[in-house]
Amino acid sequence: MSDVDADRRSGAASDDTAAQFVDLHDVEAAAAGRLDEMTLGYYSGGAGEERTLRANLTAWGELDLWYRTLVDVAHRSTATSVLGCDLPVPILVAPTALHRLAHPDGELATARACSQAGVPMVVSSLSSTLLEDICAATTAPVLLQLYIGAHRAVTEALVARAEAAGCVGVQLTVDTPIWGDRHRERRTGFHLPDGIDVVNLTRHAGLTRQSGPAGAPADRSSGTGGIGDVLGWTVSPSVTWDDLAWLCDLTPLPVLTKGVVRPDDARRALAAGAAGVVVSNHGGRQLDGGPATARALGPVAAAVRAADPAATVLVDGGVRSGADVIRALALGADAVQLGRPVLWGLAVGGQDGVAQVLDLIATDVDRSMALTGCASLGDVTADLLHPG
Ligand SMILES: Cc1cc2nc3c(=O)[nH]c(=O)nc-3n(C[C@H](O)[C@H](O)[C@H](O)COP(=O)(O)O)c2cc1C
Repeated sequence: MSDVDADRRSGAASDDTAAQFVDLHDVEAAAAGRLDEMTLGYYSGGAGEERTLRANLTAWGELDLWYRTLVDVAHRSTATSVLGCDLPVPILVAPTALHRLAHPDGELATARACSQAGVPMVVSSLSSTLLEDICAATTAPVLLQLYIGAHRAVTEALVARAEAAGCVGVQLTVDTPIWGDRHRERRTGFHLPDGIDVVNLTRHAGLTRQSGPAGAPADRSSGTGGIGDVLGWTVSPSVTWDDLAWLCDLTPLPVLTKGVVRPDDARRALAAGAAGVVVSNHGGRQLDGGPATARALGPVAAAVRAADPAATVLVDGGVRSGADVIRALALGADAVQLGRPVLWGLAVGGQDGVAQVLDLIATDVDRSMALTGCASLGDVTADLLHPG
């Protein structure tokens, strides 16, 4: 074990936020030098040969931005609103599991950085900190990400807790009937280290950490050494559109379906009662071979707008710059979600590291608006990608 690994595990990691990062790739490089092999493999890996993971990153750059000239952009606003919440920038923190693998303060550090920046945090149902404690640590809006697993009572309890804790919405992840085959997790032997657990499910629902509820069905992704072995019971291969309708009836909170890449699925989601969709392929961690989200977004956003102009469209996967955010909005998204960069920030500097990541991207959104000739986000329209 390296000294850094020992520090992380003892909860005494010396943070590295004195470093001046120029972009999110710098933060990633610094994080890679600090994380132990298992955590780095879990955070950075995708499924299979990682084609979708790579495509997520490259596809944004293939969209040229046809910038406007001689526009007065002296006064700019990056503000918007999503699900009735005012956002300083069109950015949310995507749900990612187990933040305490990156830093002893885990999700609390992320939540505090979101508070500083006013950026909403989508909390993974597989977080390593209790939902209530995360909500108490931030003044920014919080959404709960859900999987519907084998035991419906667990989902119901979690939704009730989200309502009580003041969450403003739910994201139901729909790309995970079983866990994807992540080779890096298998090679490094993914497991939950002592003292780190999916506490929202285990501590409050009375489940056992490795095997879940007695009688939970095994799936064929189990037994290969990866997340399917450790957390296979947290998802269910028999979840359907009826279950989405059930969830939308269960809670007054707006429900977004996360993991949609097809226009027909987006239409079905709205018909089942969803308030919108998150165009996502789980950061390339589920089906290897799925489309890059930059390619899926346009058709899905068009289908959603045609069905309900007021519905919400978010996107995540490979967003790494302000220009990527502008591209996503020009394709029809209301806002984007950032996944791995937040984890890199957490690894290099806890709360300050996440704050630095959010500041880097917010500054770059503002810069990209000026350079594309947009004074407000309302000016970010489809003609930036297809000029007349
Ligand atoms: C380490 C890790 C854990 C994740 N955990 C979850 C999760 O618990 N629930 C979920 O819906 N998505 C999860 N995701 C997917 C993210 O929400 C998001 O879709 C993806 O990371 C976006 O791509 P990006 O990392 O390229 O920004 C996870 C992603 C990573 C990298």
